Parts: sequence; C-alpha cells; structure tokens
Amino acid sequence: MRVLLIGSGGREHAIADTLRRESPALELIGAPGNPGLAALGRTVAVSGDAEALLALAQSEAVDLTIVGPEAPLAAGIVDRFRAAGAPIFGPTAAAAQLEASKAFAKAVMHDAAVPTARAETFRHADDARRAVLERFGAPVVIKASGLAAGKGVIVCETLDAAHDAIAHIAEARAFGGAGDEVLVEEFMTGEELSLFVLTDGTHALPMLAAQDHKRVGVGDTGPNTGGMGAYAPVSLASEALMGDVMERIVLPTLTAMRARGTPFTGLLYVGLMLTPTGPRVVEFNCRFGDPETQAVLPLLTSSLLEPIARIARGDSLAGVPALTWRAGAAVTTVVAAAGYPDTPHTGAAITLPDMSDTLRVFHAGTRRTAAGVLVSGGGRVVAVTGLGDDFTIAQARSRAGAAAVRFDGAFFRDDIGWREAARITAVARA
Ligand code: AMP
Ligand code: GLY
Repeated sequence: MRVLLIGSGGREHAIADTLRRESPALELIGAPGNPGLAALGRTVAVSGDAEALLALAQSEAVDLTIVGPEAPLAAGIVDRFRAAGAPIFGPTAAAAQLEASKAFAKAVMHDAAVPTARAETFRHADDARRAVLERFGAPVVIKASGLAAGKGVIVCETLDAAHDAIAHIAEARAFGGAGDEVLVEEFMTGEELSLFVLTDGTHALPMLAAQDHKRVGVGDTGPNTGGMGAYAPVSLASEALMGDVMERIVLPTLTAMRARGTPFTGLLYVGLMLTPTGPRVVEFNCRFGDPETQAVLPLLTSSLLEPIARIARGDSLAGVPALTWRAGAAVTTVVAAAGYPDTPHTGAAITLPDMSDTLRVFHAGTRRTAAGVLVSGGGRVVAVTGLGDDFTIAQARSRAGAAAVRFDGAFFRDDIGWREAARITAVARA
C-alpha cells in the first residue's frame, strides 16, 4: 500500500511512525514532509494547493491520502480528491467549518444541544462591545471566528481588556479575515482534555484522551504557543466520563452535521473543559492535534491504517472493533528554539537522541541543509515522547530525551504532565 501524507510537522511524523510500525512494507510519501519523514519514506517538495497534490497522488498511484493540517481541509482538498475518485482521509470544506468557523461550530452545537460556553457572534465591534457590557461582564473570552493558527482566542479578565481584544480582532484586523466575525463567549473554568475520534460521519472510534500544555513557560506561564507538550492517558478521563462525552457531545454533533447535509468524516478533535457542571466543548478541530498526536498514537496497539483507509474510501466503520491501547503512559516534551513563540531563531545544527521502543523522537521544525546537516527550521523543533509502564516513568524518559536534544538556544518545559503528577502525589498521600 502506498500512502501520501500531507504536512510537515511532528504530528505528521508521528502518524507516519505509527503507520510504519504497523505495516513495515507500507510505502510513505510526505508532501512536503520533513527530515524525520524522509527517514521513513520519500518526501516531495509539494505543498499547498489541491491541484498539485492531486496530480502527485495520481502520478504516484497512491492508495490513500492523509491530510495533517487544517488549512488544506478548510480550502477543500477533500472535495477535490473525492471529485476525482481518489481516497482521502479528512472532512470536506463544508464539514471542516467546525474548525474554520467558530460561529458555525456554535450554531451546530446549539442545534444539537451540545454543552458549550454561551456565545454570541458579531460582525460589528460596537455590537460586540455592547454585548460584553450588557450580557457577559468579565472575565469573558473574545475570539476571532476564523482560522488564526491558534492565536485568535483572547481570555479577558477585565472589561477594558475585552474592549481592546475586540478592537484587535475586529478593527485592527490582527487576524485578517478570520476576524470578519467576532465571538463573545462566556468564560469557563476547569481542566482541559483533547479527545480524538475517528469517524465515518455516523460511527465514531474514540482515542485516549490527552492533555495539552499551551503556555510557553513552566507552570503554565507566559504566552500561548502551538503546544509545548502533552500526555496520555489522563486519569480524569474515566470510562464513564468518556462515555458521557460520546453520548452527549460527539454523537449529537455528528448527527447534526449529517442533518445539515455536511457529514463530518475523518478525525474530529474535541477540545473539552471539565467544568463544575460537566464536560463542555471549548473548540472543535477537524484534524489530529499537535502535539497530542505524538503522545496518543505511540500507545495505539490496534490498526490505525484500517479505520483510516475505510473512512477515506467512504466505507462504514460499523462493526469495526474499538481501538486498543498499551498499558502505561506517554509524555511528549516539545523542544523549542530560542525566541519561540514570537521570533524563533532557526538554522542551528541539531543533535538528536536515538529512537527506541520507549523513546520516539519526532521532527517538528527541522530541515537539512544542502550539505545534509540537520538544522532547526521552526519554533517547535522536535517533540520527544517517552513511553513507560506508568506516567512517572514516561515523564522521566521524555525529560531525559528532551535534554538529549542539542542545538543552540534549545529549551523545553520540564513539567509536562504536572497536573497528572499532582494527582498521583495526592493519591499517594491519601
Ligand atoms: P481554542 O483555540 O478555542 O482552543 O482556545 C485556546 C484556549 O483558550 C483554550 O485551550 C482555553 O484554554 C482557552 N479558552 C477558549 N475558550 C474558553 C472559554 N470559553 N473559557 C475559558 N477558556 C477558554
Ligand atoms: N494542540 C492543539 C491543536 O492541535 O490545535
């Protein structure tokens, strides 16, 4: 089987690593890929537009295309491939609106009575300001509706901050067209979980829940990033809680999408907050999360390829057994470049630790120079996943692995999974 994998980050390297361990004979083509993917297959310098990627899929006679990032999905790559009869894993542009338009996602959740933060959508800044004053108060969350690379969400402690956030999004247009609509949203409290489900539009196979660490600094301080680390499983995500999330959130959302004539197929990422009144949706994404994928997939013991291939061909997941997982835990530590998230330094020569059964090293922002030297090429450079029979062992392996990644200006958070560590300590004391 020959698979085309679209994307260039740690998420895509982790997907490729999982497919390769499952099926050593699998042929992988990464577009554009990265040096980590290049070690597992071929990489082709094609990115972006659907026509070029479809031409590549056809000329290489691939059996299946998997899309990593959201931008090509929102731009309609799945619609284009399907029109040409080429199997592809991901949602159509209409279904990808669940991520690409927070206003759309709120409307779907409203139809489906899915628990989420109360929100109102506005096209004019002054209407949004009036809503904050009259109906929301502070703290409040202001969001650009469109895709803003994870930066379009501003949690505001005060009314003044909300006023400024609305100006930033809707008047200064800090996120361009993503700010055509602005959401004013109720502030929620609680721990967050990331849940991935594979879905054919009707049936859903949930993965293990993970927890992401968005802030750049130890103790969840400093600015938001694309994610500095993740771990799975999360002990908060009991079977009962996840069953409730499937019944009250995932399946009703899929039903509402079908009812709109835009069934969601592919990977639905449900960002949850465990509030005092139960789990509520923070956001949906239409693709695997990064870096949660690097923690979740190394724990998978059942096939990834089979459900993905079924979904891509338009076949049903009915009767496909639940996914299975190895016992123990995985902790992923991102090693970032000095200056990240604002202005990361690139071009530093990198030394990596060796991969083993308990240490997976995923390239996230690396490239090779013409002379073949591996150098940093982005803010999040490498994601190191430690695996172990329990969380504490996995965390220690992840930290040691991250410390063994060497390049000028490398830094990482040594507290990935601190909430889980605190729960373990609390249980031990009780
Ligand atoms: P999003 O990009 O929608 O996931 O938002 C980024 C982060 O902002 C989330 O992971 C939360 O930590 C925070 N956030 C988003 N919406 C809310 C909300 N309604 N209440 C509290 N925090 C939120
Ligand atoms: N880890 C958050 C995301 O992938 O959007």
